[in-house]
Amino acid sequence: AADASRGCNVILVGLMGSGKSTVGRMVAQSLGFGFADTDHLITDVAGQTIPEIFAAEGEEGFRVRETAALRSLIGRDGLVIATGGGIVTRPENLPLLKQLGFVVWLSADPNVLHRRTAHSHDRPLLKNPDPAGTLRKLHDGRSPLYEQASDMKINTDDFSPQDVAYGVAETA
Ligand code: S3P
Repeated sequence: AADASRGCNVILVGLMGSGKSTVGRMVAQSLGFGFADTDHLITDVAGQTIPEIFAAEGEEGFRVRETAALRSLIGRDGLVIATGGGIVTRPENLPLLKQLGFVVWLSADPNVLHRRTAHSHDRPLLKNPDPAGTLRKLHDGRSPLYEQASDMKINTDDFSPQDVAYGVAETA
């Protein structure tokens, strides 16, 4: 990833449950990098949880905050950055991701994502009667965007976070 025009960071993209935060912390540890998470940057600035932000400002308000969080990282180096699953839905975010560094897409089958997120309460988009169907739709709709945004894709279906982290750290 030696390209003077790009930051020296590793950015993880992918759907909810793909393991971005868990894997990201492990990769940061093994590379000796810092760790940042756009969801955490957003909740720190807002002083509210993600469900609270969605309730008060809608998804659109959350997306505006998400772009601001991503932008706040431009100029930083030596970070592993876990992003929210919807980071690719705003076209203006794609050049920001590339500018930050090497972008890795953690992909997974929607059924696997459903299993991994079944007990989560902090994801407003999955708070509906058919979260599995939601994940399928998001998977179909966003896969081309993750493809476009990323430099490398790793399928996580059959691998532990440790294995995935090893794969990312080796290539990035
Ligand atoms: C979202 C994913 C979440 C969070 C928000 C919206 C999405 O992050 O940003 O609930 O649109 O996919 P994780 O992917 O870390 O769960």
